[in-house]
Amino acid sequence: MDGTDLQVPALGGHDFDQLIREDRVHRSIYTDPAIFRMEMTRVFAAVWVYLGHESQIPANDDFVQTRMGLRPLILVRDSGGQIRALYNRCTHRGSTVCRQESGSAKAFQCPYHGWTFFNSGRLSGVPWPEGYACDFGDSRFNLAQVPRVESFRGFVFGTLNADAPPLPDYLGPVARPIEEWLDRQPGGTISLCNANRLRLHGNWKLVYDNSADGYHVLFSHRSLLAMENRMATDDAKGLAFYRDSPDTRPMYVYAYPNGHHFKDKRGNVERGRPGALWEIEASHPGMEFFADKLRREHPARADEFLDLASSEPVNINVFPNLHILGNHVQVVQPLAVDRTDTTWWGTAVVDDAGTLDGALEDINAIRMRTQEGFPNFGEVDDLMNFEQIQAGLAAEEDEWVYTHRGLGLPDRYRVEEDGAIRGPATDEVFLREYFKFYRQLMAAEPRIEITREAS
Ligand code: FES
Ligand SMILES: [Fe+2]
Repeated sequence: MDGTDLQVPALGGHDFDQLIREDRVHRSIYTDPAIFRMEMTRVFAAVWVYLGHESQIPANDDFVQTRMGLRPLILVRDSGGQIRALYNRCTHRGSTVCRQESGSAKAFQCPYHGWTFFNSGRLSGVPWPEGYACDFGDSRFNLAQVPRVESFRGFVFGTLNADAPPLPDYLGPVARPIEEWLDRQPGGTISLCNANRLRLHGNWKLVYDNSADGYHVLFSHRSLLAMENRMATDDAKGLAFYRDSPDTRPMYVYAYPNGHHFKDKRGNVERGRPGALWEIEASHPGMEFFADKLRREHPARADEFLDLASSEPVNINVFPNLHILGNHVQVVQPLAVDRTDTTWWGTAVVDDAGTLDGALEDINAIRMRTQEGFPNFGEVDDLMNFEQIQAGLAAEEDEWVYTHRGLGLPDRYRVEEDGAIRGPATDEVFLREYFKFYRQLMAAEPRIEITREAS
């Protein structure tokens, strides 16, 4: 007998005050399938979840598949120009209606029995309707959709929680580093390009736990650091500022409300001097050709253009699934308690105003080389750690995961004007703060709603 369902503990009954303490968390939050199932509602429906970027659906009728927790969604700019997050779930017998990753469509026809839906979610028709006695004008046959979908500077989020605060309030002070990251790009925007897609045998929170972790860098990414500097004369490229004693460097971790955090390493780069960012960009094969070309063709603006091509040393983490770092947008997708997808989107500069003197393609060619750097040579180090943590946590009797680096040390933290708690680069304060928010979410039952178009 299979019996899988019988072995899964019932929902509820978890005491999150016991599982999440000030200095440690219990292993079961990474290993218990019942907790994972609760998270898909209490986290991944209750807060604003990142769904996609407007540049993926630039024109009316464009769509891209996405997910909110385990819910399959179609993020679409409908024929009237409204961005919607439709459930990719036929109202007949439940099949996905869209099987294509992205594209352009005025309607989606379910491949099973041919029910067809406009890209507003409204049912357009069913085959041989004379075989039904019901009224297909009833809105219950229209596709379900996420009732609240909002954008912040091109980043699209959705929530099912009727009581969630407005998106700007949810983001709070993490909006500032996102704006600064965007404002250095021409037109204050970027467009997502193609992506590195990775899957790991580990819980989704292991990725979030690591996203502002400056403690592991020197150890876990030792080979990357060596590679980034192997052709450099000054030995100061890429992650080099983590060498020696990173906590004495001008880089900090900021813990914000609602589980967001920000690792700001920009203090290692001379502010305002053109070319300073490019100087620490690690060498990636192929970029020299474009760098030489930019210097030759645009001598007066080459430093400015090369800075635009460079990765900015920031990690901006928006709970629970969006990370903006370097030149990348990383998105985390939970699949099961011990299975997670992570997608590293490259980002391109856009030049709608034509201010880049024709250098756009060369700048973006270098940005794509940076996309081949960390996602290929750094993220794999991290993924190995995540998988090995999941393996280590299989030991049931050894129950606790410690998150107390910095805790109890006097004068270690500073509270900023925007409410952020600032700590040194290798501190774990960001972990403790996001777990407080997580604990609050997991103890509450959100008011979940879906909507459907009126017929
Ligand atoms: S399941 Fe979609 S038409 Fe039947
Ligand atoms: Fe890492």
